[in-house]
Amino acid sequence: MNRRLFLQHSALTAASAVSAFSLPRQSLFAKETKFAKQTNASVIDMTAKPGRVKIVGPDLAATEVWGFNGQVPGVPIRIKAGESVNAVVGNALHVPTAVHWHGIRLPNAMDGVAGLTQAAIQPGESFHYQFTPPDAGTFWYHSHVNAYEQVGRGLYGPLIIEEESPPVVDRDIVWMIDDWRLRKDASIVNDFGSGHDKSHTGRIGNVPTVNGRYRDIFKARSGERIRLRLINASNARNFALTFGKLSPSVIAIDGQAVKPFSVTEPIVIGAAGRVDLILDMTGEPGSMMSVVDNFYREPFNLIKIVYEKEPLRDSALSSPIALAAPTIPEPDLSNALALEVNIAGGAMGGLRQAKFNGEWMGLREIAQQGYVWAINDVVGNKLDMPPLIDTQRGRSVHLTIHNETAFPHPMHLHGHHMKLLSVDGQQPLPEPHWVDSPLVMPRQSVELAFVADNPGKWLFHCHALEHHAAGLGALVQVT
Ligand code: C2O
Ligand code: CU
Repeated sequence: MNRRLFLQHSALTAASAVSAFSLPRQSLFAKETKFAKQTNASVIDMTAKPGRVKIVGPDLAATEVWGFNGQVPGVPIRIKAGESVNAVVGNALHVPTAVHWHGIRLPNAMDGVAGLTQAAIQPGESFHYQFTPPDAGTFWYHSHVNAYEQVGRGLYGPLIIEEESPPVVDRDIVWMIDDWRLRKDASIVNDFGSGHDKSHTGRIGNVPTVNGRYRDIFKARSGERIRLRLINASNARNFALTFGKLSPSVIAIDGQAVKPFSVTEPIVIGAAGRVDLILDMTGEPGSMMSVVDNFYREPFNLIKIVYEKEPLRDSALSSPIALAAPTIPEPDLSNALALEVNIAGGAMGGLRQAKFNGEWMGLREIAQQGYVWAINDVVGNKLDMPPLIDTQRGRSVHLTIHNETAFPHPMHLHGHHMKLLSVDGQQPLPEPHWVDSPLVMPRQSVELAFVADNPGKWLFHCHALEHHAAGLGALVQVT
């Protein structure tokens, strides 16, 4: 029961080809490859620039994207726990940009929110990001300037921090899952931030990809144990993935360890969410299977898994898979700042009026300026607006988010992780777990708590990027 709840709501967690062509790409993300060895001293050069990527297939037209170093996903960053990220981000685009390190509890000045924590990186300029992530796990980075367009064009990449002693696996693989809106000629449909996308579910595309590939094939061997790090980099698409007859074990959610549990129901990963799985590849040598998404009405095959003829071993490994417990401070609910957070607006949402730039206004007038959502009756259209939460450092905050709209919202808090306490009054897992982008389904209420221990002004916003652009955002100030 608890498990099912997790899968339906956790949903909640918000939680990610036998073409010879694609195999080198896969190995790019495998642990054993060279890029993996970024050390403390090495500086990562990453430039936001246009590139051409064969998203729809090696023999078909390339897509003009924007990517870090022109790739999609962008240059992979993989460091060890305790090491620093030391990245010089250049801008070879014709528009300003900035990089947000999603899910990392880092100093405010490194958070990458242009206009709030830094000035945008102008074309031709660069910015040096340097911080030491306090947590090992699966994270990602992405543009935080007009993200609904820049992330949609490909400006994102994986950020993996390896545990000191990770569980033993044969391969450690990243699947960054995304969703593109492409024309027949594989070019990107240039309708970013359309009124319809803003007021409905966000930009949902027609080409779902894994590591920038549509309908890719992933080669595996019978008996192999894979750690699969799923990262959902979509603008707004949520995924609910099933792995055929395999029964994956979830070992981490949003980069933080959970007590491992195996699942047969779909694994829900909301936009911006991450789920780490241990997959024991128990299929027959030479067989194949599809990873299927069924979050929306029409299920589709996300990627095919094809087994090599030669098994790796006869029976699956049985060594332990649990990660070390997270080291995030526990919120004190008996002495917390408690707040109800009501999300309203959008199509079919029934919001009549809200405060826009401090004044009550009718929704129609607000919509004329491109905004349709409100948090506690305030349209989050500016970065200098009064904070939704203003608290002293060290205080525990207890939030209950009510989604009063017709659409799911993956609600991301910058600079902190939140403990997911309940979903519609019930615990989604036997034990509460940490999240940074919990997916709140329509009409759902989700209870979260965190210690506001990271000083600065932080964004709290919907990661359906069109929703954020249309006002679904607020500020949390910690002083
Ligand atoms: Cu991943 Cu404010 O974002
Ligand atoms: Cu939303």
